[in-house]
Amino acid sequence: MKKIAVLTSGGDAPGMNACVRAVVRTANHFNIGVIGVRRGYQGMIENDLFPMTPSDVSNIIQRGGTVLKTARSKDFMSVEGREKAMQNLRNAGVEGLVVIGGDGSFKGALTLHKEFGLPVVGTPGTIDNDLFGTEATIGYDTAINTVVQAVDKIRDTANSHNRLFFVEVMGRDAGFIALRSGIACGAEAVLVPETETYTEALMDKLQRGWNREKSSAIIIVAEGDDSGGAEVLAKMVKERFPHFDTRVSILGHMQRGGSPSAYDRVLASELGAGAVKALLEGKTNVMIGRMHGQVVEVPFEKAVKHHRDINKNLLELVYWLSE
Ligand code: F6P
Repeated sequence: MKKIAVLTSGGDAPGMNACVRAVVRTANHFNIGVIGVRRGYQGMIENDLFPMTPSDVSNIIQRGGTVLKTARSKDFMSVEGREKAMQNLRNAGVEGLVVIGGDGSFKGALTLHKEFGLPVVGTPGTIDNDLFGTEATIGYDTAINTVVQAVDKIRDTANSHNRLFFVEVMGRDAGFIALRSGIACGAEAVLVPETETYTEALMDKLQRGWNREKSSAIIIVAEGDDSGGAEVLAKMVKERFPHFDTRVSILGHMQRGGSPSAYDRVLASELGAGAVKALLEGKTNVMIGRMHGQVVEVPFEKAVKHHRDINKNLLELVYWLSE
């Protein structure tokens, strides 16, 4: 293998740049050329390719977002789109591909391999931490810290006004961000998509807090929770307890931005280098993850199909520690 391509795809995540840097510099170490693909699979279809040298990735390890840009491509869903994309890679002399993204991005890579035989390796780049086979995804640690900083600030004002805040965090299908940040912030409750939300139990808890004259309460709600989200819950609670002073704060895309934490930079560097090594060893259709401190290879099928379990002990801990 003499030339590989690298792209970032799906929602951006802090640490993607550190991963791109690791791919380019590891490839350079092994005398392999790198083609950068801008805007993920969409850029591949539109031939938005350019050669990358080690100096192109200077001064990006500390930057959030992705210098390669990212997109969710509808055109790549069609065979014609993928044929065009593959032709562009062939014309550029690309013999292997590193995809930095989430489950949708890996599914795309797998299809490219099945249809055209291109060797493809992925690294998990998503703040959601919802991929099986890695103890953390690139961006997750930074996102939790961003949420913790925001909620600490909300707690200050909540305390001053004796208010109940519903804070909505990202996670369409996964509650990892909600759970870890909730524990770190001392949240009174954490609601996640993985478990059924018992609104009655929540009402009881809030009532108990009121009886104890708690000065503030923070409920962290993952956006995909079955309650319908922070706004819906807040309305429901206000109807039951009109005397509560409630507010809603939806943190939104601020959770995806910012300079990556040291943890994410190291993780991204290890996984990016691991992806290049895997391609050079003839591997394909695997995600490079980290488990028990070791870099591991996980078949794409497993990484995207098996759902990571939410830690039930941590969920229980929220309740023990907030009473
Ligand atoms: O998958 C990452 C993620 O940030 C989810 O947590 C969130 O639901 C989604 O992306 C938001 O996507 P978009 O940026 O397209 O609104």
